[in-house]
Amino acid sequence: MAGAHSIEDLRRLARRKLPRPVFDFVDGGAGDELTLSDNRAALDRLRIVPRILRDVSAPDLSARFMGQPLPTPLVISPMGSCALVHPKADLAIARAATSRGIPYTLSTMSTVGMKDMARAVEGPLWFQLYVLKELAFNEVLIDTAAAHGYETLVVTVDLQAGGKREKDLHNGISIPLRPSLRHVWQGMSHPGWAMRFLAAGTPQFENVRGYLGDKSAGLTIAALVGANLHAGFDWDLFDRLRDKWRGKLVVKGVNHPDDATELVRRGADGLWVSNHGGRQLDGAIASIDALARIREAVGPSVPMMLDSGVKRGTDLMKARARGASVGAIGRAVLYGAAMGNEGPGRALDILLDEIRLGLKLAGCPRFDDIDSSLLA
Ligand SMILES: Cc1cc2nc3c(=O)[nH]c(=O)nc-3n(C[C@H](O)[C@H](O)[C@H](O)COP(=O)(O)O)c2cc1C
Repeated sequence: MAGAHSIEDLRRLARRKLPRPVFDFVDGGAGDELTLSDNRAALDRLRIVPRILRDVSAPDLSARFMGQPLPTPLVISPMGSCALVHPKADLAIARAATSRGIPYTLSTMSTVGMKDMARAVEGPLWFQLYVLKELAFNEVLIDTAAAHGYETLVVTVDLQAGGKREKDLHNGISIPLRPSLRHVWQGMSHPGWAMRFLAAGTPQFENVRGYLGDKSAGLTIAALVGANLHAGFDWDLFDRLRDKWRGKLVVKGVNHPDDATELVRRGADGLWVSNHGGRQLDGAIASIDALARIREAVGPSVPMMLDSGVKRGTDLMKARARGASVGAIGRAVLYGAAMGNEGPGRALDILLDEIRLGLKLAGCPRFDDIDSSLLA
């Protein structure tokens, strides 16, 4: 990893390290990958107008989100199935993040359970909820998160059904997994990954053990969850979840200004603008563009964050300029995790160094003070 100086470098290393179907599962998007590439293109299009002759000798990365101070403007996006990349990748990412004061969002479909994660790390933990058809089970998840001290509930609203990720279909990555000769060959040609995977056993989705009475936590339960995503999840059910969770609640997957306004009216504490990293609706608006429209609709004080496509420190500065208090990253840190326990920390340090340098070169002493005047 010594030669990795950017997230793109880590991505290239991950591509070599992982069997193709696993890399594609992480890296790929839905359909024609229009939204996946547009997330980047829309960020790349934005240009910064640097200011000069300001004291930037000690750039301040601190941020505020939902009234709380954070040492950096980063949050980790929830990611399921991380153990496919490296056993206990969830833990490696969470440790790297929380030790830097960066909130880690544990997915409903994480491969380390809520309880084990809460025991293993000190620092800010959030829990992400996929709303499932069995309503009582959603309540169990919420109660468990509260009991283990998760600070913030993130309700993901853009998974009415799984996106059509065609690379996964071509690679035979389906749930339940049907192992083929090609998978065996892919494993044999990546022996390090294969040995680790075999030694660790198939990923276990501990949070959903017990769903619909199924006591397993392996791939069959993942299939059951996939088949039981609650496509009927509507505003009334949102109100019930809001009533049930007493802490801060953030809604992830917001893109339309009218939805944003309604969510605020119904008591959401924060809005997470996201298109799931281009993995759900292909053709959906780029996240950074959705953010600008929503900020205009909800006004300056509603706490907002963004993910989908963030790869550079300057991306976070652009997001701040368009109205996000903080930004979240998914793949950036997961590419790092493919490199083992040290990888996630490397990914985070690359980004934090890039923000620091970006602030200096753009003449911004404080990240939090960035406003729309940063951009051309
Ligand atoms: C492998 C993988 C698994 C994911 N699993 C979840 C999940 O369980 N819950 C969720 O809300 N989003 C999930 N996401 C979406 C991320 O939370 C996030 O929105 C997206 O990765 C952000 O884009 P980025 O990867 O370009 O940073 C997943 C993304 C990836 C790459």
